[in-house]
Amino acid sequence: MFRTKTCGELRIENVGEQVTLAGWVQRIRKMGGMTFVDLRDRYGITQLSFNQETNALVFDKANKLGREFVLQVRGTVVERYSKNANLPTGDIEINVEELNVLNESITPPFTIEEDTDGGDDIRMKYRYLDLRRECVRRNLELRHKMAFEVRRYLDEQGFLEVETPVLVNSTPEGARDFVVPSRMNQGQFYALPQSPQTLKQLLMVAGFDRYFQIVKCFRDEDLRADRQPEFTQIDCEMSFVEQEDILNMFEGMSRHLFKVIKGIDLPKLPRMTWADAMKYYGSDKPDTRFEMCFVELMDVLKGYGFSVFDNAQYIGGICAKGAASYTRKQIDQLTDFVKRPQVGAKGLVYARVEADGTVKSSVDKFYTQEVLQQLKEAMQAQAGDLILIISGDDTLKARKQLCELRLEMGTQLGLRDKNKYSCLWVIDFPMYEWSDEEQRLMAMHHPFTSPKPEDIPLLDTDPAAVRANAYDMVINGVEVGGGSIRIHDAKLQQKIFEILGFTPEQAQQKFGFLMNAFKYGAPPHGGLAYGLDRFVSLFAGLDSIRDCIAFPKNNQGRDVMLGAPGIIDQSQLDELQLEIKKEK
Ligand code: AMO
Repeated sequence: MFRTKTCGELRIENVGEQVTLAGWVQRIRKMGGMTFVDLRDRYGITQLSFNQETNALVFDKANKLGREFVLQVRGTVVERYSKNANLPTGDIEINVEELNVLNESITPPFTIEEDTDGGDDIRMKYRYLDLRRECVRRNLELRHKMAFEVRRYLDEQGFLEVETPVLVNSTPEGARDFVVPSRMNQGQFYALPQSPQTLKQLLMVAGFDRYFQIVKCFRDEDLRADRQPEFTQIDCEMSFVEQEDILNMFEGMSRHLFKVIKGIDLPKLPRMTWADAMKYYGSDKPDTRFEMCFVELMDVLKGYGFSVFDNAQYIGGICAKGAASYTRKQIDQLTDFVKRPQVGAKGLVYARVEADGTVKSSVDKFYTQEVLQQLKEAMQAQAGDLILIISGDDTLKARKQLCELRLEMGTQLGLRDKNKYSCLWVIDFPMYEWSDEEQRLMAMHHPFTSPKPEDIPLLDTDPAAVRANAYDMVINGVEVGGGSIRIHDAKLQQKIFEILGFTPEQAQQKFGFLMNAFKYGAPPHGGLAYGLDRFVSLFAGLDSIRDCIAFPKNNQGRDVMLGAPGIIDQSQLDELQLEIKKEK
């Protein structure tokens, strides 16, 4: 046998056994007549000891080892003289009798340990070495376990995993497509799926009833910590369901994951309408680990001669409990924070509630103590609290700015504990949102989303007010999943396309295959998709989804290890009849 045990498995009970281990050299310590080597594999680390007195030959060989050499060793398990309580194998070591160097290694570019000296770029370039680090490997183990438990749960609920093609045409999730030129159909291109949305709907028309797939999706969009150009969805669809059935089914899946993976009993998920989420948190993915909800202050603060507020469309405040001790400098820093272009506020007004209950604000000259007391009351503020106020002439924008401030205060006050989970459904999204760029209404979710039946009459009179049967699952301010009840009526679908600005010909050309399918008896259906990468990174407490992906892309969409994307040979371009435009 190549090895009889792994490097993570031996304990004090194994003392006296003869074992063979294989793995990589993590660390070497030379101490006179003794040399110690930490041998690592996927399962853990075991200390090897080499003794000059008892086996000089092997001892000499050990002294020539280097970091990341691959070894096979045979020896006896002995009790360690100085035990290491931090290692599961820390009570024992192997007295090595036979050492076989399976492969040498050049010096790795960074130390392969928890606290590595390697920066982000170098670790990504040598990702196969980075993946040897326990902390990185653990994230991938968690990912495997979550995907496995998802399959277990959905299988038990009668879902079938069906694969859908990757070479398709444009799908309707609203990002840019990645395209692939076709050699056999010159001048034509496939698009990679932004999601299997239309295909899973066709599977419902086909009668599959309950579908899921753990599937790669591709979106050419600006990247952030929670976005990758290729990412993985747990994509699901069900027939003969209403919104309630879907919310219950997938709340169940989340509950299963929380229980088996984190040992947490997830309470019934609260539901918040999109309108309330925007009103109280300024975001459709509110971080509900902490309160600090918005209070609208138009009635309280307008009309006292402070022109910024007097001319505002929106004035809103948050109450930071216990933060009245913030210094002038800290408040200046908060003001700078909200004025950054990424946030975009014009300024920040603050009011402190002093120990005696009086209120001192940055706009004292406009407001009497009486009005400031009304402010205190409206904010339900108490002695020691800090009230922060943002105003603006665009309600949506001002709320988003206040949202950034709220999250920043949450972070500063230590209210965003990664080990605490707050999950909810955000429901009743609007069907449409206005796009300044395109100067038209766009589908907020996607064009196959069903309007609420009671709002259908508004499609003709006030489409912007129509609410959708759409929902997102939000955990700790992260949108982990989202979906909707779909339209299964070809006529209604046609109308929605019209409102989105497609001519009947354009709609037919783009989505004719789906509308035709609907003519053959489409069942009522709906579904949702989770972002697996986001779900795993929440469970692992990661700041970026990159850390739970084996071979991720960087912020420029590059795989620095593979050197992708790269240029292709002229012969390939010729075969595809493609020409690269020369840069101007
Ligand atoms: P949606 O576009 O909301 O819906 O995507 C579903 C979930 O996928 C995750 N996600 C991403 N994760 C990482 N990187 C990205 N670039 C990225 N984009 C999205 C999010 C999101 O909640 N077809 C519909 C689902 C449906 O209606 O059933 C869809 O794709 O966690």
